[in-house]
Parts: sequence; C-alpha cells; structure tokens
Amino acid sequence: MGTERIHNFNAGPAALPLPVLEEIQDSFLNFAGSGMSVMEISHRSKWFDDVINDAIERVQRILQLDGRFHVLFLQGGASMQFCMVPMNFLSKNDTADYVNTGTWSTKAIKEAQIQGKSIQVIASSEDQNFAYIPKNLQLTPNATYVHITSNNTIKGTQWSTFPDTGGIPIVSDMSSDIFSRPLDVDKFGLIYAGAQKNMGPAGVCLAIIREDLLARTPEEIPTMLRYSTYAQKNSMFNTPPCFAIYTVQLVLKWLEETIGGLDKMTALNQEKANLLYDYMDQSGFYKGTAEQESRSLMNVTFRLPSEDLEKKFVAEALKNGLGGLKGHRSVGGCRASIYNPTPLAAVSALVDFMKTFEQKYG
Ligand SMILES: Cc1ncc(COP(=O)(O)O)c(C=O)c1O
Repeated sequence: MGTERIHNFNAGPAALPLPVLEEIQDSFLNFAGSGMSVMEISHRSKWFDDVINDAIERVQRILQLDGRFHVLFLQGGASMQFCMVPMNFLSKNDTADYVNTGTWSTKAIKEAQIQGKSIQVIASSEDQNFAYIPKNLQLTPNATYVHITSNNTIKGTQWSTFPDTGGIPIVSDMSSDIFSRPLDVDKFGLIYAGAQKNMGPAGVCLAIIREDLLARTPEEIPTMLRYSTYAQKNSMFNTPPCFAIYTVQLVLKWLEETIGGLDKMTALNQEKANLLYDYMDQSGFYKGTAEQESRSLMNVTFRLPSEDLEKKFVAEALKNGLGGLKGHRSVGGCRASIYNPTPLAAVSALVDFMKTFEQKYG
C-alpha cells in the first residue's frame, strides 16, 4: 500500500476526521507553546487542565447536559464498564434489567452474573440472530436501572428511539453511536462509550453519570473501580490517558466548529446511511442483515450471494482504496462502519464501487 490515505470503513478503531489528524500533526512536537509534545506534558499542568476541561465542557454542550451529570474519562474500555456498572449500582437487595441485543449486551449481562448480582434479561432478539431491537419491554418495577446497547456494532442494529422506562434510569453502552444524534438526557442514568469509534482513539472510555447514581457507589469496592473516584478527582486520580483525551477534545471541537453541531451531524449521518441502504434495497445483490426498522445508521451490515463473492468484494474494494469492509469475524459477511468522521464522499465512493462490483459479478 502506498502513502495515499484510503476511505476507512473500520468498525473501531476507526476513521478520525482529517483536520483533527492534521492538527495533531501540526502541534505534535510543540503543544500550545509548551516546547513539549502533548504526550510529554504533565497531566498536572495547566496545559492538560485546559485540554480535559474543554473536552468536558464540549461533551456537556453537545449533549445539552444539565448540572446533574458528571463527565468522566476512564480506562479499560467499554468492556470495563460491563463490570463497573453492576459493581457500583447494585447492592445486596437491588436488581436491574438488561436487554440483550447482541454480542456486547451478552458480555454486559455475563459480567453482572459473574458478580452474582440480581439481574433479569427482560427482552432479547437472540431468536432472530439479533437482527432486530425488541419492543414492549416488561420492566421490573423496582429495577435500579435498565441496561441497553444503543447501537449494536456487530449485528448492525440500533435503537432508533429510546424506550419509555417510566423513570427507571437507562444505562446505555453508546460506544458506537455516541454523538451521532441528540438525546433526551432525562431518560439516562449512565451513558458510557469507548472512544475508538465516534470520538477518538482507543484507550479512553467516556462515562456520563447522573448525580443520584453516582451517590450509590459503595465504599468497599476498589478505588479505581468506583465512579466516585473519577468524579471527585476530575478523572485524574491517577495518570489519565492524556493523548487519547486530547484527541477526543479535538474531535468534539471539529463536531461543534467544523460540522456545526449535533443537528448537522445527525442530518449528515442520515444522508450517508440513506445513500447506502437505498442502493442496497434496490440492488437485490446486496442484502442487509438487520430488519429494516432496526437498522443502524453507523454500522451497515450486509451479505453477498456467496462467501466467495464476499471475499472478492472485500479484496477488490481494498484495491480500490476502500478499507475495512469485512464483517466481524463472529458473523461473517460485510460491514461498512460509517461513523461521524466518515465523509459523505467516502460513502459515495463505496456505493459507486458496489455498483461496479454488482455489474461484474451479479
Ligand atoms: C457497542 C460496543 N460495546 C463495547 C465494545 C467493547 O469496547 P472496548 O474494546 O473499548 O472494551 C465495543 C467494541 O467494539 C462495542 O462496539
């Protein structure tokens, strides 16, 4: 492969906005006049304080969070949240509901069960290989929270609207669709997301936690596994992943200042997804794997008539400068991840390639 950049459809780590990468490059050796790289400055310095505080303010502004919410940066990925959520929120007599919509929900459920917590799987789409988002949830009246995965990266499904839980706080894994659309924050107690899809590089996980859930954090769990530790220390109880947080700050700045905010981002995401799904729907050669009304705007999963053709598709696409189109190893098929940073031009180029490929092999 040469020095040209390709259209990157990886599921995560995934494409970052080019202006962000360029800004990092420009300031890489001398950050903000410090004479040091951003990777070399102290996390206790004024320079880094400015970075993390600006990132937090941007999260608050973009999602229109009110004073009840704390914005935290953690490590251990979204996978660490699978265990931290029940560990922090479920004491002896508490119970929680989970909705199983695929691989990541299944893992979240398992981590609660490992700890012997009382949880119910109140709905699942496993009967149809997780091709849809369940409706009509029967919530447990005294549940402390209900856990969902807002976007299912592997199965290509997404909650198009969030359920009415009658005041039970939703805890949502938003790793693959955070900042892709506006939210009614009143419904949520905790939102968490690994950065490496829609907001930055791997190595940092964003958690947005409501005051009342934060207050539940027990003292007897290890310090580094308590949300309250991060809230009390502005996410700097220990050395945070400075470079990853800096990149998140720049991606959020790009979203606000270059894209023009969340509404514009949402419209662009819709336009990208429509372009791809509309073409697939009329082709007959490419078949989406998710049920129509549960389709993800972020991860478009599809099959070709044979596995052999799928292999050819992925290989020929790469030769044409379109990378990362192989489906997750657990499900096969093809997947185009079209997160916030993926430009419309990349999706157009993909659709053009899909047409040519269909003409050749269809
Ligand atoms: C929805 C979702 N949740 C959780 C994870 C796991 O994230 P991490 O690798 O940051 O632990 C992923 C990773 O792909 C994901 O897509």
